[in-house]
Amino acid sequence: MLRTDGNVILIGFMGCGKSSVGRKLASLLAVPCLDTDTLIEEQEKMTIREIFAQMGQEYFRNAETRAVRGLTGREGRYVLSVGGGLPLRSENRELLKKLGTVIYLKASVQTLAERLARDTSRPLLQGEEPLEEKITRILSEREALYEETCSNVVMSDGKSIREVAQEIKRLIT
Ligand code: S3P
Repeated sequence: MLRTDGNVILIGFMGCGKSSVGRKLASLLAVPCLDTDTLIEEQEKMTIREIFAQMGQEYFRNAETRAVRGLTGREGRYVLSVGGGLPLRSENRELLKKLGTVIYLKASVQTLAERLARDTSRPLLQGEEPLEEKITRILSEREALYEETCSNVVMSDGKSIREVAQEIKRLIT
């Protein structure tokens, strides 16, 4: 359901612009901007890369669930961007829907590949498999979950961060 008050939650694939759009939208709405990866890095005192390498993906996924659970009692409006894999768990999807209006920030595989081409910070994108194939494969496992979690889809292809943030602001006000 689209709500015209309350929190805005941005979901979507790695590289779709959640964090940058989240920061811009938060400044347009004059509210704090939160990001689950940042919350986890602060909590664990390690980077996402280090968490994956030293503790494994399951540990990281549990930290994601703790991070969203931790937001349930939080007062005051905010914009929240979440890691691309966070909506994989059904508990997380239900929590996100309770926390606010969920927007799926969508981008084409080509746009994502361009933005992620030189990235070394995302463990799931490392390895030999060509980037576009990897994105296509992981996205196909996730797309339906992103769609079932969100109340609106916003396309980011060919738009500036500001344009996307303004589009979301218009949707929710
Ligand atoms: C992940 C996305 C990343 C980060 C981690 C795993 C994923 O966040 O949480 O590398 O599984 O899609 P971004 O979507 O902000 O890149």
